[in-house]
Amino acid sequence: MTELKNDLFLRACLREDVERTPVWMMRQAGRYLPEYRATREKAGGFLNLCRSPELCSEVTLQPIDILDADAAILFSDILVVPEAMGMDLSFGAGEGPKFSDPVTCRADVEKIPVLDDPSRELGYVMDAVSTIRRDLNGRVPLIGFTGSPWTLATYMVEGGGSKNFSKVKAMAFNEPETMHMLLEKLADSVAAYLNGQIANGAQAVQIFDTWGGILSTSAYNEFSLQYMQRIIDQLTREHEGRKVPVILYSKGGMGWLETMADTGCDVLGLDWSIDIDVAKARVGDRVALQGNMDPTMLYANPKRIRAEVKDILARFGHGNGHVFNLGHGITPDVPKDHAIEFFRAVREESVQYHQ
Ligand code: CP3
Repeated sequence: MTELKNDLFLRACLREDVERTPVWMMRQAGRYLPEYRATREKAGGFLNLCRSPELCSEVTLQPIDILDADAAILFSDILVVPEAMGMDLSFGAGEGPKFSDPVTCRADVEKIPVLDDPSRELGYVMDAVSTIRRDLNGRVPLIGFTGSPWTLATYMVEGGGSKNFSKVKAMAFNEPETMHMLLEKLADSVAAYLNGQIANGAQAVQIFDTWGGILSTSAYNEFSLQYMQRIIDQLTREHEGRKVPVILYSKGGMGWLETMADTGCDVLGLDWSIDIDVAKARVGDRVALQGNMDPTMLYANPKRIRAEVKDILARFGHGNGHVFNLGHGITPDVPKDHAIEFFRAVREESVQYHQ
């Protein structure tokens, strides 16, 4: 295995010493980059792009070249897992994801398979991971990912994005056994999927619980957190002689940081609704923190972006265990130059906190 030339991200995840704060950005390979749009065009659409390991690798490396990001993230989508379970996934131009055959009842859930061998239905993702590792050639670590069982279930039951999540919540509250059967199948599938990514070269993994925050505290514990715990309990935690950090990100879940840290994850992903100094005071040195600039700050001018970066760095202060990121993904209409300035500002302004 090639030695890593830049392992700042992995060291920060494990709260080890670093020379500056590492930075990457959720959705860093995406439509705000003309280079990404060109590759997607070449692939003939987003899902075709996800299915081509060579083109996945091309777009994964774009933000490493353009932004100088300290970590790469596998290019794929969380919804390829339900697709591999047999659901019909599409992305209309300018629309969100759609499943033409949503899960509506217990009989539908009973038919869903547990994917215990990711090299079968999800073999193309495994190939993407190993291709990206080959092409990165040790420049920066590669992050693998999955959606949380609850977040995947929202798309599977709603048939796409949703405003008030009426169908998935009705199922959870009226037929909890059906929902638990679905979440259990998803958790076990996704654990095998992440272990497959790790075996093929992912050096850290992130669980995206984008919709955990729409639940009450007790419903979050019952329908989301419990299943993320079930995943973490099954994960490979060491590979190629290094720890494989696990990042847990529940958007809207900043009220639950302590119980999230109890899962045994290494890093908590923060959205922008909490000040990072407050989060740090609450979890202490139990876990590292990732985040948490408001992604819409990237619409502001470069001077304002830099001021915001400085404020977040000052709030975190001296000490280890900070991975800089946005609080959610970058949006498609952000000027590329603003993203470049964001990365530059973190690199330059963070040195003083590590001396
Ligand atoms: O971060 C990265 O650069 C890695 C790639 C990545 C994508 N999706 C690519 C993508 C990751 C980590 C995801 C995760 C994902 N996908 C989540 C969880 C994270 C989050 O953002 O909350 C969710 C909920 C999805 C489902 C999904 N995929 C939605 C709702 C959409 C449409 C929204 C939109 O921005 O249009 C997608 C499409 C998608 N996934 C795109 C990309 C680059 C845009 C597709 C395109 O090129 O048109």
